[in-house]
Amino acid sequence: MALERPVSFDDAARGVSLTAQPGPPARLDLGFRTADGVQISAHVPVDAAAFEDLAAVMAAPGAAHLDDQRLRFGNLARRASLAMPTAANALRAVAQWLLRSREDTNYTYDLTPANKLYLAHLIAVVTARPVAEIKNYIAEVETDAQLRDHFGRAHDAQDPAARAVSDRTARYSRRIGWYALVRALKPRLVIETGVDKGLGSVVLCAALLRNRAEGAEGRYMGTDIRPEAGALLTAPYNEVGRIAYGDSIATLQTVADPIDLFINDSDHSAEYEAREYETIAPRLSDRSVILGDNAHVTERLAAFAEATGRRFVFFKEQPADHFYLGAGIGIAFR
Ligand SMILES: C[S@@+](CC[C@H](N)C(=O)[O-])C[C@H]1O[C@@H](n2cnc3c(N)ncnc32)[C@H](O)[C@@H]1O
Repeated sequence: MALERPVSFDDAARGVSLTAQPGPPARLDLGFRTADGVQISAHVPVDAAAFEDLAAVMAAPGAAHLDDQRLRFGNLARRASLAMPTAANALRAVAQWLLRSREDTNYTYDLTPANKLYLAHLIAVVTARPVAEIKNYIAEVETDAQLRDHFGRAHDAQDPAARAVSDRTARYSRRIGWYALVRALKPRLVIETGVDKGLGSVVLCAALLRNRAEGAEGRYMGTDIRPEAGALLTAPYNEVGRIAYGDSIATLQTVADPIDLFINDSDHSAEYEAREYETIAPRLSDRSVILGDNAHVTERLAAFAEATGRRFVFFKEQPADHFYLGAGIGIAFR
């Protein structure tokens, strides 16, 4: 049975207006207004079959066997008022991001306090170190004024086109976890495939510099296919790290030393990611930790962990005040 005319479900007190539009094309018109002034008006195409129950109620007013359907549609505006604040918050974050940020790719943000706490606990489990130590590493990178200044100055030194699509204030997001892992594991060789501007490169090298000051030497190699990548990796952080330009797989094939910490973040196709893990497998030891920056998209690192007798865990980011729903850190380890 088809809906013959539009049917509205409005609830002014809740700021909700809903109209089922028979079309074609069939659609649900959604209106919502929050107490603090966010106003949403959306037209959402729906499968015409979605209106069948409503059409039956409209065609047989008062029919007893349709009582539960009538009650159901009576609940519609109230239920919309449960769901629409999520959409309003998402739009609020979009507006903030458009006006306050310049980034158009490789988004950066801070993690919520609870998300950071859980990250610290997860890294404590992976590294078998006390959580207090991991929390100290996270606090260390977040309060490192020299590191923050470096990002500001490196940003200023870029050409206007690069500055137009990057933010001066560095926000490390999940990279605070990468930092804590380097501080806890004291790796001799860290490899990150895919460096983009070099935010991760510098954060990782900052951890290696701290390790070095404590007597634990280690070096970083980033790989990127774009010659302009890694612009942020300048002194003093390039004392312990460099970028190798070219295709990651080709670069990884030249690595002869054991890789203690590996971060996959280059070509994000599942096939390429898996090939990176296969390429580094002969260079891994029992102490090696492998991070996948694609683990929110593919299951390749979990599969690699199973195939090579490693355990696997996944940390899901919860960005604070950002429209992006977050990436994560896949971790394979023994
Ligand atoms: C998401 S970004 C890396 C972000 C970086 N890890 C960070 O912490 O900000 C992905 C990078 O991978 C690079 N890339 C893509 N395909 C590649 C390949 N086949 N080999 C090397 N680098 C590649 C891109 O040029 C890009 O800079």
